[in-house]
Amino acid sequence: MIGLFDAFARPLMSLIEAENAHRLAINALRLTPLPRPAEDDGRLAVRAFGLNFPNPVGMAAGFDKHAEVPDALMRLGFGFVEIGTVTPKPQPGNPRPRLFRLPPDEGVINRLGFNSEGADAVLRRLAARVDRGGIVGVNVGANKESADRIADYVRQIELFAPVASYFTCNISSPNTPGLRDLQQGRAFDELLSRVMDARSRMSRRAGVTPVLIKIAPDLSLSELDDVVGAARRHRVDGMVIGNTTILRPAWLKDRGTAHELGGLSGRPLFALATRMLAETYVRVEGAFPLVGVGGIDSGATALAKIRAGACVVQLYSSLVFRGLGLVGEIKAGLLEALVRGHHAGLAELVGMDAAAMTAEPWPE
Ligand SMILES: Cc1cc2nc3c(=O)[nH]c(=O)nc-3n(C[C@H](O)[C@H](O)[C@H](O)COP(=O)(O)O)c2cc1C
Repeated sequence: MIGLFDAFARPLMSLIEAENAHRLAINALRLTPLPRPAEDDGRLAVRAFGLNFPNPVGMAAGFDKHAEVPDALMRLGFGFVEIGTVTPKPQPGNPRPRLFRLPPDEGVINRLGFNSEGADAVLRRLAARVDRGGIVGVNVGANKESADRIADYVRQIELFAPVASYFTCNISSPNTPGLRDLQQGRAFDELLSRVMDARSRMSRRAGVTPVLIKIAPDLSLSELDDVVGAARRHRVDGMVIGNTTILRPAWLKDRGTAHELGGLSGRPLFALATRMLAETYVRVEGAFPLVGVGGIDSGATALAKIRAGACVVQLYSSLVFRGLGLVGEIKAGLLEALVRGHHAGLAELVGMDAAAMTAEPWPE
């Protein structure tokens, strides 16, 4: 089924305007009955954040913003799915066009700006599927016009606690003006304090739901020192590194599209995001696990993220260029690396290269 889709539908999708192609993909996943995938090899299983991942390859936030197809995505072989970003109230996001492909670079630029059907609609969908199991994380954000953005995170933690496997607080989208300021100083401290409080209050009813913080790859290293320090003080459960970048490497080939405003993802993000992951890993000193995301497009790049410090990984942009068969390819590549190195599990590889990576020249 996946092979058929990649062979016939994907080449046609590349001819369709990017956001329409995305809608088509969601509808196809919603309507196509997918067979149950073969069980993952036990050596790919990972335990992190108190959760048992059947494999470490997750669907990154932004593909299934409204929780329309989490179960279909797990049937494609993903070990977990992060839905969202969800905002409390519905909002349309930025005017279209707002999603652009850079085919020669295998990159994507988006300035969607948190288009969301809103928390109530998403909660209804998640509540209807909660008995099906699987790891479904809920990525939460703030409404553009909100007077108290931190309250938007708190409210959604209260709302989604009974149906979320974990939370990701997205304070790193470049497409909501001022949102990234929540990563700084007092604002970050207040966010963590109120969010972790909400999580504790809810744990009496819903059990302890892990809370992860998703950061930008564009933080300076001294900002990263502060972010990790505060995350450790407030005992967050993990961090996701990272979101899209507002930088534009000088070597991008698709110069015509590179000037579009928004966050860049995919292959051009890999080196920067992996370096930031390693920098985070050495600062966290094992206090909590990390999710590695940004530019994964093969078994080798997924393995590099793990060796840089990720317990589990996520991807999105490469699916646009490489197709759905990529998920299986990455899992096979990781398994091969385990066999080759005589490792019993991926945990043995986490962070192996982190210290060495931080001594390399900063990626261009
Ligand atoms: C079209 C698009 C929409 C995205 N929307 C979100 C989002 O709503 N929330 C979020 O935390 N990240 C969002 N992201 C960022 C991804 O989750 C991921 O962090 C980033 O794309 C890097 O991974 P990749 O190179 O594998 O795409 C989006 C990315 C893309 C390409």
